[in-house]
Amino acid sequence: MKRSEVNEIIRESDKFIRSFGYVMPPFAYWSPEELKTRTATDSKAILQARLGWDITDYGQGKFDELGLFLFTTRNGNQEDLKKGGGMLYAEKIMISREKQLSPMHRHIVKAEDIINRGGGTLVLELFNSNSDGSVDEKTDVEVATDGRIVRQKAGGLLKLQPGESVTLLPGNWHAFWGEGGDVLIGEVSTVNDDLTDNIFREPIGRFSSIDEDEVPLHLLVSDYDKWLA
Ligand SMILES: [Fe+2]
Repeated sequence: MKRSEVNEIIRESDKFIRSFGYVMPPFAYWSPEELKTRTATDSKAILQARLGWDITDYGQGKFDELGLFLFTTRNGNQEDLKKGGGMLYAEKIMISREKQLSPMHRHIVKAEDIINRGGGTLVLELFNSNSDGSVDEKTDVEVATDGRIVRQKAGGLLKLQPGESVTLLPGNWHAFWGEGGDVLIGEVSTVNDDLTDNIFREPIGRFSSIDEDEVPLHLLVSDYDKWLA
């Protein structure tokens, strides 16, 4: 993706998020220079937990069709997870645009509640896993939506209206997109490591490569290794 496109998506997304009365934390608005200074001094946890802006076209260069906007607001730590106590949770705010696909994937560790916070309908396509982890095209899928168990055919579509959510457990294959409008999505989950815990059905990347055609408005999490080193 071009940096100018990333900057524009940040501006549009910020506006969309604010239109629902949701305001992101102060570090969302730090310049790259301030982020660099602060993560070296009083805000190291932002870097360690990889909090912040995350815009991906899954490396395919067609963001409107295949992509996702995310902002990680909090994330626990892997050591606590191994100990079984402490900060074991994470939270993201995301936007799935109308007809913009987040491709079929599953997680090994992370359980996640995906919440429609407003806008259009959020559509999720769901499958179970076979014992080898591959997509199970046959068996019915059972998931909890706001405490209610829903059973549907393999590959069935679960439609969430604003206010509704689904709990996806490790092994639940899922793809999702907005219908009838862009959707503001909340994610509440187990501690999250996006570098290792996303298994895609098709060979695909989790992050974008950036063509630097202008200066970044804000850094993406995927910029941290290069820009904050
Ligand atoms: Fe997921």
